Amino acid sequence: MPIALITGGHTGIGYSCARHLASHFKWDLLLAGRSPARMKEAAAELRRDFGIEVTCVDLDTSSLASVRKAAAHVTGLMDNGEIGRLDALLCNAGGRFDGPVAFSEDGYEVTFATNCLGHFLLVDLLKDCIADNGRVLFTASGTHDPDTADGRMVGAAVEPDATVLAGIGKDGNAPISAGKRYTTSKLCNVLNAYELHRRLRASGRPVSSIAFDPGLVSGTGFLRGMPMAVQWLSRTAFLNWVFRRRGITMGSLDFSGASLARLAADPEFADASGKYFQSKDGKLLETRSSTLSYDETRAARLWNQMDELAGLHRKENEISTRRQAKS
Ligand SMILES: NC(=O)c1ccc[n+]([C@@H]2O[C@H](COP(=O)([O-])OP(=O)(O)OC[C@H]3O[C@@H](n4cnc5c(N)ncnc54)[C@H](OP(=O)(O)O)[C@@H]3O)[C@@H](O)[C@H]2O)c1
Repeated sequence: MPIALITGGHTGIGYSCARHLASHFKWDLLLAGRSPARMKEAAAELRRDFGIEVTCVDLDTSSLASVRKAAAHVTGLMDNGEIGRLDALLCNAGGRFDGPVAFSEDGYEVTFATNCLGHFLLVDLLKDCIADNGRVLFTASGTHDPDTADGRMVGAAVEPDATVLAGIGKDGNAPISAGKRYTTSKLCNVLNAYELHRRLRASGRPVSSIAFDPGLVSGTGFLRGMPMAVQWLSRTAFLNWVFRRRGITMGSLDFSGASLARLAADPEFADASGKYFQSKDGKLLETRSSTLSYDETRAARLWNQMDELAGLHRKENEISTRRQAKS
């Protein structure tokens, strides 16, 4: 049976996607996240409702040590023959972190650490565990584009410089708003998806890298850091009407989850590498991302900076090379 790993697959868009992968495509799943009890519940529901195999993997994407441990867990399952190679790796976990700037245990600004750097490292450590014709998906956001109503509503993304982003608000560096920290992290996701695509093509590996915008989806845990009144308002028909009038890209939990599942598993998207898709008003459309996201120089710089920040040193590269040689 094909298998996908989904970060943040026990809630929101990730869980909706998990249910579609299980029901429509009959895929087995690895749910990776930092809330073991809720992951266990979601796994039990998926097994009960669809009869698939589900394994939970502890993963805090904001912590590089946790990412390394999770990757070792997955590699171990593969080496023991408990699971096959991954048919899809969905980098979906993430959020917006309101309030004063906070830092990960590695000392990096937490939005950047959670949404970008952890996934960058995870993909790197698991790249040889992905099956031929497998796919890597990044749940980005239309808010990364400052030329859209989505981007203007949340706050224009700033320069995607990983070294600066990791140190925002630290050692006298000026903080930026939570909205901008979020939109910039999503710009980094899109740049990273395209750069991964180029590197995969250059290396000859038949693996796809795809970016996805689920649209504005209410009913997830996304606004959990916001006041209760804002969370309540976001679910009202009135606010949805206002957003629509302002030209905001609107998704729904079911359709956006199904769209992410299709991008991961549907043969229709076998040639989607290096592209950006949006779930909008019940349609899954290939569309253009922001102008800046196509800047290959910035993407390469971001990649090299994240490589440095994640401490991807020689030892890990040697292990990876040995695994490749063995397979
Ligand atoms: N909802 C929207 O309107 C919208 C729009 C565009 C893009 N997105 C993106 O869609 C993705 C899913 O969000 P959602 O709306 O479904 O919200 P959600 O229900 O809050 O899901 C976010 C998931 O990410 C996990 N997560 C957060 N920080 C983590 C960490 N440090 N380590 C591991 N897992 C972590 C959460 O786990 P816990 O349960 O443990 O917190 C949760 O499972 C996110 O990347 C978000 O940025 C959402």
